[in-house]
Amino acid sequence: MTTERRRGTVTLRQVSGSARSRKVRVDLGAESAFDTFPAPVKVGDASYFLVRGRDGYKLLSTICPHQGGQIEDEGDELFVCDGHGWQYEKTEGTCANRPDFRMKAFLVTLQNDHLVALVPDE
Ligand code: FES
Repeated sequence: MTTERRRGTVTLRQVSGSARSRKVRVDLGAESAFDTFPAPVKVGDASYFLVRGRDGYKLLSTICPHQGGQIEDEGDELFVCDGHGWQYEKTEGTCANRPDFRMKAFLVTLQNDHLVALVPDE
């Protein structure tokens, strides 16, 4: 049995990444350069929010885990997705509409007073 993929379709793995995808370390800059959270961060073509949560710093992907919409910070208490309007909490990325969904998070560590993220190599 063969599986034929239609042109122009993407798999869920392509949208959300994979635990097995290659990661790269990225120096986000001096910790002191970030004084307001969430802070928008671009790494290549990918967009994130740098947040400071219970476990320290992390990057939250702005790609919605629902169907790939763009999650935005409109200055309100919660992030909001432009796809279907789902809202996400701003420190852990938990979805207020569907607690089983959360924004994809990436580790950020403090090294020599710089914030270093481990993100997919995209
Ligand atoms: S794509 Fe984000 S809420 Fe549906």
